[in-house]
Amino acid sequence: MESNSWVPLFPEQASSFAWQVDYLYFYLILVSVVFSIPIVVGVFYFLIRYRERERYATPDAIHGSIVLETAWSIIPFIVSMSIFLGGAIVYYNQYRVPTDPDMEVYVVGKQWMWKVQHETGQREINELHVPVGRTIKLTMTTEDVLHDFSIPAFRTKTDIVPGRYTYLWFQPTKPGKYHLFCAEYCGLNHSGMGGYVYVMDEQDFDNWISGNASGGTPVEQGRDLFETKLGCASCHAGGPQQRGAKLEGIYGHEVKLVGGQTVVANDDYIRNSILNPSSQVVEGFQPIMPTFKGQVTEEQLVALVAYIKSLSGITGTAGPGGGAATTGNASTGQTTGQSNSMTPPKADRGASNTQGSNPNAPANRR
Ligand code: CUA
Repeated sequence: MESNSWVPLFPEQASSFAWQVDYLYFYLILVSVVFSIPIVVGVFYFLIRYRERERYATPDAIHGSIVLETAWSIIPFIVSMSIFLGGAIVYYNQYRVPTDPDMEVYVVGKQWMWKVQHETGQREINELHVPVGRTIKLTMTTEDVLHDFSIPAFRTKTDIVPGRYTYLWFQPTKPGKYHLFCAEYCGLNHSGMGGYVYVMDEQDFDNWISGNASGGTPVEQGRDLFETKLGCASCHAGGPQQRGAKLEGIYGHEVKLVGGQTVVANDDYIRNSILNPSSQVVEGFQPIMPTFKGQVTEEQLVALVAYIKSLSGITGTAGPGGGAATTGNASTGQTTGQSNSMTPPKADRGASNTQGSNPNAPANRR
């Protein structure tokens, strides 16, 4: 299966935007070849043509040529702008995560393994099973150092950064088994931090997901932590005695902080509020919340975020605001949450949907 690509030595093209990356890459090679061959040939031609034949000869004076100078300004301008535009289009398609993905998966990197959890609760290690033809969004973070989630056959990768969430999306186009790599050096066993992505037909995927016991969905695990294990509910549950900020319906909306600032309540805001509660105190409340740093794992944080999102009627499918701020850029906190709040709750996945019955489906996604 490794050699099914139209270019030998290349991994398969197995996602909706894989061909775009390949075309851009070959365009860059073509441009390099078209420029480097005449230059090398010219170097040798001039070397011989203008070699020294008599000592201290006075060369003819050369005067300007408007035609030549215009040509060597305009042609490189067009070529470089075409590279810029091609790159921008591919980047835009890859790193603008759909706001209404068909499926969301949580990934936590750790020296040296990938821990994966599905919205329906199933967990995997170093493996990821997904259905073909669906848009899949990954919400990712790490327990320790920088990693990078990379699937060459999908022509996409994203850094996974300590202390924040980054996002990756793809739409697999072909069933198969594809390599998954860590693409950022992360210590001794970096090279062993890999696995496989299994792209399955809808029917096979439904069988797989129903055949794997679920230890509770992330939302259920988050509720358990919130209400029982961590006791968040004692301050954040509604009622007149509420001492903590209201959490219902905040996701994707602006929150006013003490000091007059506002922030959009997104994944990173919720995570930060659990770990550094005094850094972003909501207006009208006292900074009395203790930090939970060191008491919750990244996986538990993911579950808590999923639960708090569910309080806004969002079952795990809201994005980082649909902006381009998915690669760990500073704007993560500033993206508008508007589109998130519009996202209707998803129907239960894992039921045996037939392929093509999905209204948000593929096609116009590129
Ligand atoms: Cu994880 Cu390299």
